[in-house]
Amino acid sequence: MNARLKKIADLIDDEAFSLDIGCDHAKLDIYLVQEKGHKKVASSDNKEGPLEKAKENIKKANCEDAIELLLGDGLDVYHRGIDTVVISGMGGYQMLKILKQGKKHLPSIKTLLLSPNNFIPKVRMEVSKLGYKIVEEELVQEKNMVYTILKFERGKKKLSSKDAFFGPILRKKRDALFLAQLEREQKAKELLLNLMPKKLSKRRHTLKKELKWIQEEK
Ligand SMILES: C[S@@+](CC[C@H](N)C(=O)[O-])C[C@H]1O[C@@H](n2cnc3c(N)ncnc32)[C@H](O)[C@@H]1O
Repeated sequence: MNARLKKIADLIDDEAFSLDIGCDHAKLDIYLVQEKGHKKVASSDNKEGPLEKAKENIKKANCEDAIELLLGDGLDVYHRGIDTVVISGMGGYQMLKILKQGKKHLPSIKTLLLSPNNFIPKVRMEVSKLGYKIVEEELVQEKNMVYTILKFERGKKKLSSKDAFFGPILRKKRDALFLAQLEREQKAKELLLNLMPKKLSKRRHTLKKELKWIQEEK
């Protein structure tokens, strides 16, 4: 089990009934049962192939009684009792699509654990507009990749553009990975700005604003 999935599992409440959308191998769900003592877990995928892989892994781990496997698109598989939804290892826009399409279920879903591969500021902002507030954020390094994990709970909390950009909790904690990420982002954005044609003035303006934010945040 990799560090990213382990960190997600550690952020799931002990009493939660979780649904892992896009479970693929179902390693997270097996870990929840075997290591965290969860009695009931739901794992879903919208493709037969990954679900077959999940089924095999669950059988090997002897977790068939605790893990419910569901085939379907996003929150279509949601059923009563599930209070926590995990979506990880997908693009940010794909996650937002799943949440918006299943909007009618959101009032029953107390907690969301999201680990988007990209467009993280957009995910923070849009999920906040769906009736959630960020309660925890973690960065996890695996090889040369840094993953962001966002924990949301039902509620309201205004998110500024800077909070959405950096992460309201990450910028408070300022741990080593966060500071290293700021350095990396600054270099990448400076390079991009140097290469960007002058005629793309709107994009250049945004980049300059973000670079100023990064400078202030360091
Ligand atoms: C890259 S894997 C991520 C696996 C695991 N969640 C992780 O973080 O390691 C993405 C999985 O999401 C599934 N998926 C993509 N879109 C989906 C959707 N709308 N509903 C359910 N599953 C979906 C894919 O079939 C694939 O198995």
